[in-house]
Amino acid sequence: MCGIIGYVGDDNATGYLVSGLEKLEYRGYDSAGIAVIENGKIDVIKSKGRLKALEEKIQAQSGFASGTVGIGHTRWATHGEPSDANSHPHLSKSGLFAVVHNGIIENFSFLKEKLISQGYEFKSETDTEVVAHLLEKNYDGDLLKAVKKTADALEGSYALGILCRDYPDEFVCVRRSSPLIVGISEKGNFIASDITAILSYTNNIYKLNDGEIALLSKSGVKFYDKYLQPLEKSITHIDWDISAAEKCGYEHFMIKEIMEQPEAVRATISPRIRDDGTIALDGVSLTKKELLALNRIYIVACGSAYHVGVVGKYVIEKLTRIPVEVDIASEFRYRDPIVDGNTLVIIISQSGETADTLAALRMAKAKNARVLSVVNVVGSSIASESDDVLYTWAGPEIAVATTKAYSTQLCMMYILAIHMAEEMGRIAHDETRRLLSSLMAIPEKIEDILRLSADIEETAKLFKDLEHAYFIGRNIDYAIALEASLKLKEISYIHSEAYGAGELKHGTISLIEPGTMVVALACVDELFPKTMSNIKEVKARGARVLCVTTAKHSEELKDIDYTLIVPDTDNLLIGSLEVIPMQLLGYYVAKHRGCDIDKPRNLAKSVTVE
Ligand code: F6R
Repeated sequence: MCGIIGYVGDDNATGYLVSGLEKLEYRGYDSAGIAVIENGKIDVIKSKGRLKALEEKIQAQSGFASGTVGIGHTRWATHGEPSDANSHPHLSKSGLFAVVHNGIIENFSFLKEKLISQGYEFKSETDTEVVAHLLEKNYDGDLLKAVKKTADALEGSYALGILCRDYPDEFVCVRRSSPLIVGISEKGNFIASDITAILSYTNNIYKLNDGEIALLSKSGVKFYDKYLQPLEKSITHIDWDISAAEKCGYEHFMIKEIMEQPEAVRATISPRIRDDGTIALDGVSLTKKELLALNRIYIVACGSAYHVGVVGKYVIEKLTRIPVEVDIASEFRYRDPIVDGNTLVIIISQSGETADTLAALRMAKAKNARVLSVVNVVGSSIASESDDVLYTWAGPEIAVATTKAYSTQLCMMYILAIHMAEEMGRIAHDETRRLLSSLMAIPEKIEDILRLSADIEETAKLFKDLEHAYFIGRNIDYAIALEASLKLKEISYIHSEAYGAGELKHGTISLIEPGTMVVALACVDELFPKTMSNIKEVKARGARVLCVTTAKHSEELKDIDYTLIVPDTDNLLIGSLEVIPMQLLGYYVAKHRGCDIDKPRNLAKSVTVE
């Protein structure tokens, strides 16, 4: 999705803007641009395509932008095709204002028609250009008043960075339902759509709430509420290291992040497990009484986070015996789910900003549900609006395809499930201790699997020229099949589907023909014989089968074409191990197909529009 950066300080702004945009590339984009105030006017350079094209244009324009105030943007097209004209920043009629925007202005057609009837001409198809013209129309010499009046007229979601020619030493930002932070540093002051853009300069940020406005100059930042009343805000320190947002010698962020999983999981679980085998759940204030009163739990998320939810359902139901439904956020929010004061809604999100997930959270709260979120980004909208927050400590995740955030979310769900079950008296303390000790051993077992990367790369070569692949499994194996299939398809562009292994013969088995590749996940002990029967069914129709199972079943695999063995652990936790070779498989297949692994086509890291 689109990315925003803005800078004001003593230095030439262009360097900061371009380097910030480079850090935002991971979010996915199809054009980029910057605007800088200089010699009494706003200079804009923008270009369709990768940032390199923009940089070449900047270099070609000798003397461009030595100004010290500027804004920049990477655009992921929503209104209008990717083109130079549709790229941000957009200028107002006389060039008085320049605007970068993330989000969607829902009433833009209405506003555009009105502006056209008043003589404003549009150079792009974007909703954003409306904002630039409106600012100029609403301006009477007072920048903040123009920003307020314009923001009041907008419906939808926006994070806006705004330059005004009359204010050559300052710039403004405002947001509603689209993330934006303000960062302060010795080098100058920044705005950014996420902290990775400015992590090289600062870990100290202010998070803007809906409707808030910030006026940035090199000497500081002033904050205002939506009525333009001055605000005091406190700094949030983000404990992320810049090296976590850089490749550090790895070929891709995705493989770096896969390799970081033992550490990320350790960082997430260790602070929550005390030496005496009890759980310390910071951020969760649900009492035993509240837990016992729950009538149901919904787990709501999108994409891979939803797949974590599918595992979560199995684990929570098994341990607590509370009914759990897992929902895709974009479905949940529009299906009038049965939610009341005794419903717990668990929201899972790496970014904490996914538009549908955030909207689902708000709907659940409006229906009086208790909302607990599992989030990776501190201070994100989902974290801020939840009743209880469990942070995953995965650090910044840059590759579009999630790996370490997924693994940490999974572990957070186990801890939550065990905690709830013990609080409710549904499992004995000895069982808690046993499960927690198995959980503590997971990072080391992930390390063992990562040591097998070279073998998994060999296996991946079998997939290189495939057009289709099928993943099957039962119970937690099925939940992991969903994620394994997504990992493969989203980065290698091989069509793949995941099925409950018992479901195949209700339709999909007709697609199996000689040579079809089927990946069978068969790690859940009690279902191993059942999945083996399903393997026989597809093999009888000519499929080649790659079976992923645990060490204890390794002797039972004769007649299977290819195998990947993961260490044994408690069945409830096995997903954390079997997903690792599946991430590596997706990665190496994509690598051998020459795909753009960290930035797969059409995808964005943080999906902040509906
Ligand atoms: C796939 C992937 C996505 C995200 C989904 C939710 O590899 O990363 O499916 O899981 O877009 O994003 P968050 O977790 O930020 O809400």
